[in-house]
Amino acid sequence: MSQRQILLVNVLVVGSGGREHALSWKLSQSAKVDTVFTAPGNGGTTNNVPIDVDNLDGLAEFAQTNNCFTVVGPEIPLASGIVDKFNQMNLRVFGPTQKAAQLESSKIWAKNFMKRNNIQTARFEIFDNAKKAQEYVKSLDYNVVVKADGLASGKGVIVCSNVDEAISAINTILVKKTFGQAGNRIIVEERIDGIEASYIALCDGTVAIPMASSQDHKRIFDDDKGPNTGGMGAYSPTPVIDNTLAEKIQNDIINKTINAMKNEGVTFKGFLYAGVMIRNGEPYVLEYNVRMGDPECQPITMRMDFDLYDYLVASVEGTLSSMPQIDWKTQFSVCVVLASEGYPESFPKNEEITGVDLVSQNTIVFHAGTKRHDGKILSDGGRVLGVTALGDTLESAIANAYDAVGKISWPHKYYRKDIGKKGLSYL
Ligand code: AMP
Ligand code: GLY
Repeated sequence: MSQRQILLVNVLVVGSGGREHALSWKLSQSAKVDTVFTAPGNGGTTNNVPIDVDNLDGLAEFAQTNNCFTVVGPEIPLASGIVDKFNQMNLRVFGPTQKAAQLESSKIWAKNFMKRNNIQTARFEIFDNAKKAQEYVKSLDYNVVVKADGLASGKGVIVCSNVDEAISAINTILVKKTFGQAGNRIIVEERIDGIEASYIALCDGTVAIPMASSQDHKRIFDDDKGPNTGGMGAYSPTPVIDNTLAEKIQNDIINKTINAMKNEGVTFKGFLYAGVMIRNGEPYVLEYNVRMGDPECQPITMRMDFDLYDYLVASVEGTLSSMPQIDWKTQFSVCVVLASEGYPESFPKNEEITGVDLVSQNTIVFHAGTKRHDGKILSDGGRVLGVTALGDTLESAIANAYDAVGKISWPHKYYRKDIGKKGLSYL
């Protein structure tokens, strides 16, 4: 083995979505990284390891045997304490501890945290009793959003336009238990009508470096109609967040959050994602995520002009303040999610996908719900592919992404036709 090879490290990316494909893709470009494994991965990731994200023992054993630096993509293993477990075993792992992950794993915990630390969020009440919650919404003179407390893959939130919808949402979560235990308690909060954006920062417990801004498209249908999904497309940067607003979010939300966590005895390391609603120039936190967004990660990683591996290591080691400033490609990036028709409810699987290799050089097709079988790519989930393109302008990035979308087909392919359009009106 040459000396250079001896210095290389292996990376294990935990997860199987488009976000994890994008992270694996970016990390494999690092000169310091040897092999990137993905567990369990998908039809687009290489070196897949068949260990599920909730099998913490199996993941730890693999990371130990293969001497890996582990990068955790999704919230479920973070909420289950994967980072605590790896730390106890002296394994190097990127992401927040279980305690820090409460910012996402319990919406009630997060709302109370924001309230006691004066972080701007919608006013709210908490209920475990449907009757009391219904009486409460009848007494209000504003619209509400009803949220299950626990993790529900981005689907446990019902945005209501009148009292009847609110009453039915309360029933769905607290009585019918559509989201299971995650809905044992609910938040009823003021609906804030404004512009939504995603602000993600890389944190080492003390310092938070902002990632490029982005905007997700959460609803299933064009013009933000229909139920919420995990996200149907995203673009970066978003003109919705100008420099003044970015500074405000960085200071009043991100820095305030990690400092308040620290004061409460919790070190926040990892990606901190604030989902914000901007009303009259003021950002309100709708939710925290303790990880990269999916699909936001896909356009953001495509614009990174730095070695992501170095920065993830600095997050773990608490040395972000000594890292050089990060550079971003000036181009825009747009990710259009191709889903299986029927998502976010039921949808067909195992359909053959063609055309993935026909896309132009400015485009990358990140896989999500796919698998390989007999040399074919098959659909294997609700969100199937994230077609992600660069362009010198937002308009050209949109055109490049949709050009590639047109080349890819399978019987029940579904996608939104308006990804990025919201941003155009701000330019
Ligand atoms: P959450 O998982 O809490 O971010 O909610 C999912 C989505 O529901 C958000 O991305 C928003 O589109 C919407 N939403 C959540 N809370 C509110 C709110 N207070 N007002 C308006 N829309 C909201
Ligand atoms: N795209 C929103 C999320 O990752 O939760």
